[in-house]
Amino acid sequence: MSVHSISLRTGDATETVQQLRKALAETKLETAKAQTFHWNVKGIAFGPLHNLFQEIYEDHFEAEDTLAERMRALDVIADGRLREALAASSLIESDPGLKAEDMVSVLADDQWQLSETMQDLAKAAETEGDQVTADLAIGRAHIHDKFAWMLRSHLS
Ligand SMILES: [Fe+2]
Repeated sequence: MSVHSISLRTGDATETVQQLRKALAETKLETAKAQTFHWNVKGIAFGPLHNLFQEIYEDHFEAEDTLAERMRALDVIADGRLREALAASSLIESDPGLKAEDMVSVLADDQWQLSETMQDLAKAAETEGDQVTADLAIGRAHIHDKFAWMLRSHLS
C-alpha cells in the first residue's frame, strides 16, 4: 500500500496523521522552551548550558519544518498556531526563571517524552504502510535520545 493511497482513502483520520500533529506540536513547544531557557539560564554553567539549549532549539526549529512539510506531503494541514502546540502536546510550558539544574531536568524529561512520541509515530506509520514517515520519526527519536543523554549527564 502506498502512502498516497493511505491519504486518499482515510485523510485526516489516519493514526499517522494524528501522531504527526502531536510530534509537530511537541517539537514546537520544546523549541520555545529551549530558547527561553537559553535566554534566562544563570550560574556557573551559564556558557555550556546557554550553548546546549541553543543547539536544541536550532535542531528543533528545523525539525518543525521537516515534520510540517511531511504533513503537507500527506495532503493535511500543518497547524503552526501556538494554541495548537499547547493543545496537541503532552509537554507543558515551564517557568522561565527556573534554576539552571531544574531547566536541565525539565528538558531531559521533555526529550524522553519526545523520543516516545516519535517512536509512537514510527509504529503508526509502519502499521499504515508509510515507511517515509516511519524513517523520519526514527531519525528524530535518535536525536531526542541523544539530547536526553546529554542533558541527564549534567545531573549525575
Ligand atoms: Fe542567543
